[in-house]
Order: sequence, then structure tokens, then C-alpha cells
Amino acid sequence: MVDFTLSDEQLALRELAHDFSANEIRKVAAEYDKDGTWPQDIIDKSHEVGLMNLHAPERFGGAGLSFLEECIVGEELAWGCSGIATSMGANGLASAPVILGGSEEVQEEFFGELVAEPKLASFCLTEPGAGSDVSSMRTRAEKKGDKYVLNGSKCFITNGTYADWYTVYAKTDPDAGHRGMSAFLVRRDDTIVIDKKEDKMGQRASNTATVTFNDTEVDAKYLIGEENKGFKLAMMTLDRTRPGVAAMATGIARAALEHATEYSKERVQFGVPIAMHQAIQFMIADMATKVHLSRLATWHSAVLLDQGNRNTIESSHAKRFASDSAMEVATDAVQIYGGYGFIKEYPVEKLMRDAKIMQLYEGTSQIQRLVIARETLLPRRAEAPATA
Ligand code: CAA
Repeated sequence: MVDFTLSDEQLALRELAHDFSANEIRKVAAEYDKDGTWPQDIIDKSHEVGLMNLHAPERFGGAGLSFLEECIVGEELAWGCSGIATSMGANGLASAPVILGGSEEVQEEFFGELVAEPKLASFCLTEPGAGSDVSSMRTRAEKKGDKYVLNGSKCFITNGTYADWYTVYAKTDPDAGHRGMSAFLVRRDDTIVIDKKEDKMGQRASNTATVTFNDTEVDAKYLIGEENKGFKLAMMTLDRTRPGVAAMATGIARAALEHATEYSKERVQFGVPIAMHQAIQFMIADMATKVHLSRLATWHSAVLLDQGNRNTIESSHAKRFASDSAMEVATDAVQIYGGYGFIKEYPVEKLMRDAKIMQLYEGTSQIQRLVIARETLLPRRAEAPATA
């Protein structure tokens, strides 16, 4: 049976996330955006009320929420500010490979810490020369006895400056292309240098840094999954986290739609509120459709995961459509505000700046199209399991 009715628990979770977003995030969003202020106080509060580490398994004290529930929360938080929501949600991206491939002992240590304190973890995949083309990465992990030694630099790392743990992808067999990559869980130490905090167009309250590993020693037990199977682990991770990005994009689009709707009822031109003009009505209608379809695609891609199914194409559909829609809806909101939309005193220019990153991080809209085209032309679903 196809049913999008939320349970009472899910409705209560949405209300909790919405209230937190309205009271703790949205009110300060413009201020944090202005100077790119790091929202540690909001992260601390969200940890206290249980809105961090939604994915952490229950056996380690976590909430163990479903993918759908993570998406419900993600939309609400990003409705308040997607930069702050990204800071709050990045632990999910770093944790997904650990859930997929980490040993029980390592998971207990890692999630035990995340659940106990508002600690952060960063996902370290991208490098200056390896963005969309993941397998061209140069970071090396050389096995020496019962340790691996990591060397290399990762860029655009969300929460990199403040993280205690890093999920790092590195080449263990440099001549084997994507079949020579492995993943490691790395605890921060003095050999890891963090620099180049990026000054960004949007999502300015989220931290984006360069993380460099200099002869960083990692015990072999922190290898996640099998050696040289890191590429697939990264792809499976992104299948699981792109619905969350799509949910945040939906939150941005919904905020833009709501602002534009309210404004169009107040702003009078030619003797009537501009909402009375069909030119504006049609824009509002298209914006509303995009928000609605973004949410449906997002929820579908998440529910497939909750059912234990592979969701590669649906995840890319959702991420691509919701991100592009967020950009379009936010741009249209600025248009409906007219000249005022271009002014920082009004809320929609921030949404337009924030929306842009949704089309870039966790795989650009072009990469999503590439995945969709490949999955459509050459479906791999039957041969590929949903688990590691
Ligand atoms: N699940 C399981 N296996 C998969 C898979 C999936 N979803 N996708 C690919 N694979 C497997 C393939 O079956 C293939 O397996 P074999 O070795 O058995 O042949 C292998 O992986 C290689 O696949 P491809 O040939 O498709 O690999 P590719 O090099 O052409 O790359 C790509 C594919 C889709 C372009 C991929 O590289 C990609 O997604 N790039 C974008 C990376 C990205 O999203 N980066 C964002 C980083 S996170 C971030 O943004 C940071 C942040 O803090 C927010």
C-alpha cells in the first residue's frame, strides 16, 4: 500500500524539529549568516533536545531514526537555516560509512562519544583535484604493521575545523583506480592540520575547511569495510545521504515559497495586492508544485532505504530535482519581492545564496544526471545489494 500518512510519533518529531527551527535557528539565521558565525551554541542545544545524530543506532544510545524521519527533521531545520542545518546534520554523512562497514567495537567507541557529547565528525572525500571524479584522489594510506599511515589533503570539508573524528578516503593501491581506495575512521590528533576556512557565498554559518593528514597513524581496526572497497562504500554512503540533502533543499524552497506568498498578499501595486495578478499567481503555483514534488521524491528515496532496497536512481532523482527546484523557487521568491528581494534586510536573498550549494555538494546536479542516465540505460539494481 502506498501511504504518506505520518505516524503520531513522526508528527511529534516534526513538531519538535519545527519548533526548534523556529525558535533557535530562524530567529538568528541572518545574524549568523552575516559574519559566518559558527553555531556551536545551537549545536549544543540541538544535541540536548535530541536533534543531532538521528541515525546513531539505538544499541549505542542513539535515536536510531529511519531515513524518512531524518528527512522530515532535515526539511524543518533547513526551513530555519540550511547552513546551520548542514552543521547539525554533517555527522550523519560521516557516520553512514561507519554504520555500513565499521566493526561493532569501533561503532561502539564512535557512536558512544557522539551520543554522550555534542562532538562532530566530518566526511573527507573531496580533494582539490578530485571532486566529481572521486577515484582520482591522491591521499595515500600505506600499511605499516598493524597501522595505516595517511598523507594528503581534503578540501571543502564540512565542520572540518571543529570535528573530533574524520571519515577519510585514501588510496591503498594507487594503481588500481576506484578499486584501490579504502575508508578509515580517524580520530583527530596533532598530525592533522586544519586550515583555509572558506568564505562562502551561502550557508555561511556552516564551517568548510581544508583538512591535511601528515603521517597520521591509524590503527588497522579503524579501516571501515574491506581494504580497497572504499569507492563502493562512498557511493553507498551517498545513496543514503542524498535524500537528506534533498530534504534540506525542500526546506529552503518551502521557506522561499512561504515568504513569497506572504509578501504577495501584502505588497500592493496597481491598486491590488500583487497576489491578485495572474503573473504572480502562476509563479506561486509553480513554486508550490516544486516544493510538493521535491518532498514526494525525497520521501520515496528515503522509504526505499528503510525497506532495505537500493535507491541509487531515486536518491539522485530526489537530490537533483529538489536542489534545482530550491534554486528556482528561491530565485522566483526574489523576483516576487522585486527590488526588495535584492536587499539583505529581506529574507529571500539569503535563501537564493543558500540554495546554490544544494546543486553542488554531495554530487552536483550534473553528477546526479549522470547517475540517473547510467541507471536508466544500464540498470544495476538486480545485481547490487543494498548493504555493504
Ligand atoms: N552503490 C554501489 N556500488 C556503486 C554505486 C552505488 N551507488 N555506484 C557505483 N558503484 C560501483 C560500480 O558498480 C562500479 O563497481 P565495479 O568496481 O564492480 O565495476 C564502481 O562502483 C565504479 O562505478 P563507476 O564506474 O560508476 O564510477 P565512476 O568513477 O564513473 O564515478 C560517479 C561515478 C557517480 C561520478 C561518482 O564518482 C560520484 O558520485 N561522484 C560525485 C562525488 C560526490 O558526490 N562528492 C561529494 C562529496 S561529499 C560532500 O559534498 C561534502 C560535504 O561535506 C557536504
